[in-house]
Amino acid sequence: MLKIEEQPPVNFSSELLAKFDEVVSRYPAGKQKSALLPILHLVQAEYGWTSVPAMDKVAAFLNIEPIEVYEVASFYTMYFLEPKGKYVLEVCRTGPCCLVGAEKIMKHIETKLGVKENEVTPDGLFSWRGVECLAACGYGPVLQIGPEYTFYENLTETSVDQLIDDLRKK
Ligand code: FES
Repeated sequence: MLKIEEQPPVNFSSELLAKFDEVVSRYPAGKQKSALLPILHLVQAEYGWTSVPAMDKVAAFLNIEPIEVYEVASFYTMYFLEPKGKYVLEVCRTGPCCLVGAEKIMKHIETKLGVKENEVTPDGLFSWRGVECLAACGYGPVLQIGPEYTFYENLTETSVDQLIDDLRKK
């Protein structure tokens, strides 16, 4: 985990703050905390991850305590508390997928990309991690790639190679 003092300072642009205002306007007066989840998504879309300085600024914007932001951001796995690659390969590591080779697929991805789980490739394109059941248990091994959460099913080492090569060409 990046130490807090190593995390870059954040200054939200006026465009981003306008988007925050629009989100807050969807909720009753005084209930601005309800806007926290969509605002964190906006922050992540802007910066690629959800840093502590960004979360502190969100807390100030919403007039809530920083811990209220930290506890939400650290609960939901869709928020990344570390820098991530442009593409995050999220491989299901739950039992049924493991029975059909998920661990072998993760090992293959690690070797192919040359980075361990949650690390970022030097070109900034990829990171990967194991996640819990993706509700496609009959099609394992399976992985998803956000932010659209496209699914890739019945994975083999060959299909993973093809997927990574295709993403590199994008
Ligand atoms: S166990 Fe892998 S999708 Fe459910």
